[in-house]
Amino acid sequence: MLVKGRILDTNGAPIAEAKIDVWQTNDDGFYDVQQKGIQPDFNFRGVFRTGDDGAYWFWGAKPRSYPIPDDGPVGQLLGALGRHPYRPAHLHYIIEAAGA
Ligand SMILES: [Fe+2]
Repeated sequence: MLVKGRILDTNGAPIAEAKIDVWQTNDDGFYDVQQKGIQPDFNFRGVFRTGDDGAYWFWGAKPRSYPIPDDGPVGQLLGALGRHPYRPAHLHYIIEAAGA
């Protein structure tokens, strides 16, 4: 999966050198920290910087949905609401930029 985008300020101007910290699950729906010894450390994680035009890109794997733990109070709440525990497929981002 090719992921690309631009980081812009609230006026639409590009933010150069923004730090993009991104992570996702593997194809089985698990993060590296959930499968120590099975997945390599930092698997499906990366840190990138935007260019002068605010653009970034990287290759990732197509994310998939996964369930949150539902064997405790959260599961009881979801059950009471008639909801399933699955989150939609997604990526996680933390973006930092000087002065932004
Ligand atoms: Fe997630």
